[in-house]
Amino acid sequence: MNSTLDIFVPGRVCLFGEHSDWAGGHRRTNSKLVPGVVIISGTNQGMFARCKKTSGELVVRSTLPNGSITETYRVPMELSCLQREASEGGFFSYAAGVAAYMLDFYGVDGIEIDNYKTTLPVKKGLSSSAAFCVLVARAFNQLYQLGLTTRGEIEAAYQGEISTPSRCGRMDQGCAYGQIPVMMTFDGDRVGVKPLRPGGDFYLLIADLNGKKDTVKILADLNAAFPFAKNTTDETVQQTLGSDNQRILKAAQQAIETGDAARLGALMSEAQKLFDANLMPVCSELQSPKLHKVLTDPQVKPFIHGGKGVGSQGDGSVQFICKSVADRQTLTNYLSTTYEMFCFDLDITRPASVRKAIIPVAGLGTRMFPYTKAVPKTFLPVVTAEGVTKPVIQVILEEALSAGIEEIALIIQPEDESRFLAYFQTEARAETLSKLPPYLREEAEKLRRLSSRITYIPQKEAKGFGHAVLLAEKFVANEPFLLMLGDHLFRSSEPRSVARQVVERFQDFGDAQSVVGIYEETLEKTKHYGTVTGEWISEETLQLNQLVEKPTEDHAQTYLKVERHGKPTYFCVNGIYVLRPIIFDIIRASATANSEGEIGLTSALETLREKEGIKGLVVNGQHFDTGLPHIYAETIARFAQAQTKENG
Ligand code: UTP
Repeated sequence: MNSTLDIFVPGRVCLFGEHSDWAGGHRRTNSKLVPGVVIISGTNQGMFARCKKTSGELVVRSTLPNGSITETYRVPMELSCLQREASEGGFFSYAAGVAAYMLDFYGVDGIEIDNYKTTLPVKKGLSSSAAFCVLVARAFNQLYQLGLTTRGEIEAAYQGEISTPSRCGRMDQGCAYGQIPVMMTFDGDRVGVKPLRPGGDFYLLIADLNGKKDTVKILADLNAAFPFAKNTTDETVQQTLGSDNQRILKAAQQAIETGDAARLGALMSEAQKLFDANLMPVCSELQSPKLHKVLTDPQVKPFIHGGKGVGSQGDGSVQFICKSVADRQTLTNYLSTTYEMFCFDLDITRPASVRKAIIPVAGLGTRMFPYTKAVPKTFLPVVTAEGVTKPVIQVILEEALSAGIEEIALIIQPEDESRFLAYFQTEARAETLSKLPPYLREEAEKLRRLSSRITYIPQKEAKGFGHAVLLAEKFVANEPFLLMLGDHLFRSSEPRSVARQVVERFQDFGDAQSVVGIYEETLEKTKHYGTVTGEWISEETLQLNQLVEKPTEDHAQTYLKVERHGKPTYFCVNGIYVLRPIIFDIIRASATANSEGEIGLTSALETLREKEGIKGLVVNGQHFDTGLPHIYAETIARFAQAQTKENG
């Protein structure tokens, strides 16, 4: 089986601290200097590729930003050939350089890289060569399961790039962290990397000044002040790239982490002022008339919180923090018409707090016996409203992704692994693909994207839902997570999916309390499901004060009734939970098996509720059970009919 891997790597922009990277490097010889520090950010634009293993060859095809496709490049996976190719220069030399490093250090075989789309402008100071090197390093790492961390990939990309004639800095490969801001420190030969977590959204605009800059001269003039100052001018240069830079960077880190766009913009303007006052006098290239014209243009001011030059400075590019998306658009129109500047957006956004999901599908499925003797019940087919036949598990995975989930752990019976791999991790036969209509070919594409998000965790014995959740503790790594049953489907009655509604409600309350999706159920049916009661804190949110697993009708009627719109009602959990990671400790502490030897989740949820509180969200949509024979039969028909508001 040769699986394919989809990779996206963005470019990078230096937001703050340019030149302090090499300045900090001078601490090798002068330890009195202050370490350098920069903040970079991955761009919205980048390189997309599909990669797979090959035998004995490095194969690369690339698509340029204008859509034209290069000829296929092939080189044998032999160290001397790869090193020779790397030293010859050109775009493919980067791939050869990284491949040589990977072969030399990890003994890998070949790969094929199809860089099918590039949205990153080249030669605009966005480190497109570093992005390509990171892409190649990541492809080797993931396809050969080398276990390199992001820092390990950065090192391979850097070593690969410097084995070509092109020269790159140590901060260029920071794009390996994706579209997030990263703080890097430079102390002699040591490089520190710290990804930052933005506390809000920032809308940046980068514009090419259509000017000229002589980077070599800028570097030479500024470097003349290092490593030892010869006069007060040198001291000023060292202070600007040293302690002044550190002060601004510290404030910028805080502004990013607190989501303060106005402060971040003001800091950009302040950094530019310092550059102008202290560095411009030693380097005429830094007079950059085009940069200063646009920075002081009164027509620009109303739309921005601040701005500064990019990269080595000079008349290369300018960056602004805009006040809103609309202001950025107006400014783009103005700059492109008045100055004929090429502009592009860069978004720094608050990351999703719920990035991971657990879906346990290792149950015995006794109620669906004997079908489940041969096939796990999560592979039962359903037909979607669009007329596509899919296994239940795929619909659930799509629901998870629709909530912004990036990684999913499937808890499976070990003997089912080959079935999951065959369905998710293997390409459809070429013969089948060639006969599919376009909408089903798009489904094959969707499946491919889905498969790269899945991690499989075996549950050797079906010791219960709670036990299955506990097995994913390491995968979740102390973050809040989405938990979904492997046999419930959903159809939202609004554009947001049901899982997204639950995730967003969790975020609405500052991630402080776990949230479960609930729905109105008849009294008679509460005995089949986890049932809750509580106090309304909004139209559709209950602050829970009890969770009971399959209560008797009497118990439900006496203790679990909830008044809604003046009527007595009952609410059951719908199988979508966003839980805080403390749940793992609780399951472990209360891991007493029931009479069937299973460790459930409901009692742990009740303890979680007592400790931290849990909210119940009445979701806007329908749910469909597939775990009982007649209900499954009904689900098949109802699910195929059910429409969301959006497509209905
Ligand atoms: P169910 O309670 O529906 O159990 O599990 P089940 O084993 O699937 O089906 P029956 O009751 O025997 O007919 C709820 C979810 O938890 C998973 C199931 O696969 C299902 O998605 N589960 C349950 C596990 O992963 N491991 C377990 O030990 C139990």
